[in-house]
Amino acid sequence: MAEPVKVLFVCLGNICRSPTAEGVFRSLVAQAGLADQIYIDSCGTGHWHIGKSPDTRAQEAALRRGIDISGLRARQFSPEDLDTFDYVLVMDRQNLADIKDVWHQNGGTRPALFLEYGRSAHHEVPDPYYGGEEGFETVLDLINEAGEGLLADIRGRLA
Ligand code: 4NP
Repeated sequence: MAEPVKVLFVCLGNICRSPTAEGVFRSLVAQAGLADQIYIDSCGTGHWHIGKSPDTRAQEAALRRGIDISGLRARQFSPEDLDTFDYVLVMDRQNLADIKDVWHQNGGTRPALFLEYGRSAHHEVPDPYYGGEEGFETVLDLINEAGEGLLADIRGRLA
């Protein structure tokens, strides 16, 4: 079988948005029967939460939609990720600027805003870390919609 398509989601801490994106997209891919063909991971540009589980609020919000992200552990982005992954999808423009700095030095896969795959007017997944519960619901809504678009894009590649 061909190599899987590799998708990396990136945020700042890897405890709120990108593990949510990993969990939601994993679920969409599994429902589509493509789990063997798409490899999914997430990481953060920052180092503060390396080895930690996702934020409890992110875990609870995902679980309310039937998605268990409790087993994920945070890791930091590494320049080699740009050589390994076919899609490097960031949550906001600060993440994009940070990863683009590395991409200019390293080459490899050009990072892109994840929400480019969505149809909403939003371009960034807002950081929910310092806000309330509703921020985590918004994150899930935006990620779910962009995830559908991303899956359609990858299906085109696999076809
Ligand atoms: P994330 O959210 O980037 O979506 O994981 C954050 C998590 C932690 C921090 C900031 C954002 N922090 O400053 O520790």
